[in-house]
Amino acid sequence: MASGGGFVTWVRTEPPPPDEHPFTLPVVREVFARGGIGLDPGVTFLVGDNGSGKSTLLEALAVVFGMNLEGGSRNFRFSTRPERSALADHLVACWKRRPRTDFFLRAESFYNAATYVEELPGGGLGPYGGRSLHERSHGESFLDVALHRFGPDGLYLLDEPEAALSVRGCLALLRRVADLRARRCQFVVATHSPILLALPGALILQIDEDGALTPTGYDEAEPVRLTRGFLAEPDRLLRELLAD
Ligand SMILES: Nc1ncnc2c1ncn2[C@@H]1O[C@H](COP(=O)(O)OP(=O)(O)OP(=O)(O)O)[C@@H](O)[C@H]1O
Ligand SMILES: [Mg+2]
Repeated sequence: MASGGGFVTWVRTEPPPPDEHPFTLPVVREVFARGGIGLDPGVTFLVGDNGSGKSTLLEALAVVFGMNLEGGSRNFRFSTRPERSALADHLVACWKRRPRTDFFLRAESFYNAATYVEELPGGGLGPYGGRSLHERSHGESFLDVALHRFGPDGLYLLDEPEAALSVRGCLALLRRVADLRARRCQFVVATHSPILLALPGALILQIDEDGALTPTGYDEAEPVRLTRGFLAEPDRLLRELLAD
């Protein structure tokens, strides 16, 4: 069932890494130690605790893949902060073929991307479901982008898409990602969602405390283990958590 676009399955590092942030993050050290980062031809999930470096990796991949650092497509050229990805200067994408289209969907700067779309000459809203993304709820506008803007033969980076989505919304996104993977698309998704991670056939790369980046089964992935543990015994876990 799983296939995918397979545009780029290896992004190699260009040493030496400078001795400063973000190169001192454990996961970035690990990527340099391995000489690069391997991606699934279909869907790769990055999981890891807050601050483990998922967005740092994803932003660098976005720049290396030619997308706008703050979200959007390769032809999105807005910037609200004088930001750059130092890591991207030390990564090289080993392309197998080029995608027809691409998009970097970031929860934290989606508002700016939506404004950019609205201000495009001619309205620019056609590929986004025809309505201003600002007239939709946060989750609705996310799903509009995935349903209307994403298409076959695309390369897509998503940073915590679940931040905007209900459980139903996550299931709708999972379905959309599966459909697009079958239509030669490739995804890299940073997520904490045990629902999105359930996509069959995806590669789950888990960032551990020491920065190890390990392919992990669904049942062993931390968001799944911790959520399952909590839902199985919420009363006991809450007693422990809230005890003096
Ligand atoms: N300019 C900076 N200088 C030093 N440390 C930084 C800087 N910017 C970010 N960091 C740190 O880098 C680490 C990785 O951040 P990143 O945003 O990649 O984490 P993340 O895995 O995406 O977390 P989350 O799940 O909360 O989104 C964090 O500990 C963050 O505090
Ligand atoms: Mg993040």
